[in-house]
Amino acid sequence: MAPSSGGLQTFEIYQIKNKEIKEKLVSAAKDQTFVAQAPLLLVFCTNPSRSVERFGERSQLFSVQDATISTAYAQLTAHVLGLSTVWVGAFDEKKVSDILKLPIEQKPIAILPIGYENEKPKEKTTRGIKDILHIIE
Ligand SMILES: Cc1cc2nc3c(=O)[nH]c(=O)nc-3n(C[C@H](O)[C@H](O)[C@H](O)COP(=O)(O)O)c2cc1C
Repeated sequence: MAPSSGGLQTFEIYQIKNKEIKEKLVSAAKDQTFVAQAPLLLVFCTNPSRSVERFGERSQLFSVQDATISTAYAQLTAHVLGLSTVWVGAFDEKKVSDILKLPIEQKPIAILPIGYENEKPKEKTTRGIKDILHIIE
């Protein structure tokens, strides 16, 4: 239900169930072992081919944005359901594409392991609204 460019949903989601592929993804993602431990493992990818006719060159950026927004919505939904997740972006894009045998037009944006938390996160610090918000009068 996430918003997307022109409502065209220019992203794809892969659910990885295969254990060997999970292990390969761990090694493509700097050995972040929790990637293979989560009961639900999703990989969000761009697919600008769905909108290139309509948006031309802009479809590349729109597709990254569509895939990003859908990943963020999935994180929020997991949270609402009492589940835990973390955005995994530190991975070798080519390796992940090869492992998943992605069509040439698709690029992986985020790996999302979803499961039950086994530790409480540290208190979050942010830059603060005064640092982030720039008011132009
Ligand atoms: C684009 C992006 C890439 C990230 N890549 C990783 C990653 O590869 N591994 C990881 O453990 N966390 C990763 N994170 C999670 C951040 O480290 C985390 O969101 C941040 O520390 C703030 O913590 P919080 O989300 O619990 O508030 C990534 C987050 C984003 C938005």
